[in-house]
Amino acid sequence: AEIKNAIAQATASSPEELEAYRMEYISKKSVVGELFAEMKNIPNEEKKVFGQVINELKQLAEEKFQELIERVNTDKKQSNAFDIDLTLPPSNVGAGGIHPLTATRQRIIEIFERIGFNLSEGPEIEDDWHNFTALNFPINHPAREMQDTFFIEKDPDIALRTHTSSVQVRVMENQKPPIRTLSPGRVYRNEAISARAHCIFHQVEGLYVDENVGFADLKNTLYHFAKEMFGKETKVRFRPSFFPFTEPSAEIDISCQLCGGKGCNICKGSGWVEIGGSGMVDPNVLDNCGIDSKKYTGFAFGMGIERIAMLKYQIKDLRLFTENDVRFLKQFKPML
Ligand code: PHE
Repeated sequence: AEIKNAIAQATASSPEELEAYRMEYISKKSVVGELFAEMKNIPNEEKKVFGQVINELKQLAEEKFQELIERVNTDKKQSNAFDIDLTLPPSNVGAGGIHPLTATRQRIIEIFERIGFNLSEGPEIEDDWHNFTALNFPINHPAREMQDTFFIEKDPDIALRTHTSSVQVRVMENQKPPIRTLSPGRVYRNEAISARAHCIFHQVEGLYVDENVGFADLKNTLYHFAKEMFGKETKVRFRPSFFPFTEPSAEIDISCQLCGGKGCNICKGSGWVEIGGSGMVDPNVLDNCGIDSKKYTGFAFGMGIERIAMLKYQIKDLRLFTENDVRFLKQFKPML
């Protein structure tokens, strides 16, 4: 019982003390070890009881030993935490890269800032007026319906914006011409996710309103952009189209950067890839936003940032942008 007590009360706070404990209670020469050596002197009929007692002691001593080892180890870890040398140079943890969409957006902004466009922003949760009505969407236009738009509330309608054209409205409501602004941002559409489409993607809107702004200004601005973004050899094509908020309207195509215009599965063999829509701001839209449509004209365009990034970096599947696969993201590290 005396030994039992001593074991229970034993402590150790260093490897040296641990060793002392081991010598005292565990080794062959320890008090417990000596009891085992005594065994041969014990009369046979008492051997069984004696054996039980010393085995119990031995087990107790070993359990305690494990406990002490653990305690000494955790003490060591805790004290190590305070041993860090803050004056040492850091080990190389490796910096993160820039996401290709961020890099593409930055490059687009840079190109347009140099020709006099400022930056503007609007909310991703929009009301019907800014996303549709002010932009001359007729009341029963199909784009307002559930298959395209994520509605948050009905009557009055609140939705996730389906395009960055809503920011045009906000800028025109708050500023007088001349207006030259670029609005990058996230947009939402209720679409199935595939290699070419996603329900969340990014657009960049451009708006230029002043006296005597014409279609030639629109074309030259976008020619300039395409050559800066993709290189001098890039071809741009305008295809007649329709948007409620522009008249006339045109779709913007770029010669395919993946196959050099020869035809591949991204341009579907045509040699051209659509990157956005554009047109002259409809006079109704100017008037809706409090700008005199008799005095001013303007052009607008909206381009998909994912599409531009795909062409620029030869990315064949749009889902890669949101999957956060480091094998994909690592490839953009040198851009830092
Ligand atoms: N908002 C249109 C779209 O998302 C693009 C566009 C912007 C077209 C500006 C014309 C002018 O498809």
